[in-house]
Amino acid sequence: MKPLIVINLKAYESGTGQKALNLAKISQQVSASKNAKIILCLQPTDIYRVSDKVKIPLYAQHIDPVSYGANTGAIVPESIIQAGAKGTLLNHAEKKIDHRILKQSITLAKQKKLTVIACADTAKEAGEIACFSPDYIAIEPPELIGGDISVSTASPKIITETINKVKKVNPEIKVLVGAGVKTSEDIKKSIGLGATGVLLASGVTKAKYPKKVLEELVS
Ligand code: G3P
Repeated sequence: MKPLIVINLKAYESGTGQKALNLAKISQQVSASKNAKIILCLQPTDIYRVSDKVKIPLYAQHIDPVSYGANTGAIVPESIIQAGAKGTLLNHAEKKIDHRILKQSITLAKQKKLTVIACADTAKEAGEIACFSPDYIAIEPPELIGGDISVSTASPKIITETINKVKKVNPEIKVLVGAGVKTSEDIKKSIGLGATGVLLASGVTKAKYPKKVLEELVS
């Protein structure tokens, strides 16, 4: 099984607007040439701009647990679907949600047939979130996010603990590993520990030559 590589463009300038489209085109090229499974998580405002230009799946970085109606400022699942999204990230360390709300968001997203990647800061939180049945849980220790040491190097134990806890609740949920992932070696280690793939951001989004980095990552 090829590892899944989920790239979160966050709100980096290099991942916004026209630059989001450029990164999406690069990701599409690498996905096609290397037969790699790549998903991009975009700001909701960029999904429409990108969706008719690339075929790789696009996810929103967040949605709110509300539908059409008097919900000013909300990110409504129906609108990201109309924009071309196939899924959503939820509960990222930079966009934490109360678990009561998270449960509602996951339920609504799944009703709307969106794939859900829910993030967890700890193995304990991953176990709690597993009860809400997202498709993926991404374990990301916040202190390693944006750094140069991969979670698989700094804290392999948290990966195995997370996988054990999640699989005990629901063996269908797949686990992704994030924070500090920069190289194919980081991916290899994560897969070796039982993960399905990785969630990363700065390694690609802030790279001078993102195509080169991506090609190395999927090698
Ligand atoms: O969403 C992925 C992210 O939080 C990890 O960031 O920059 O450590 O790859 P980074």
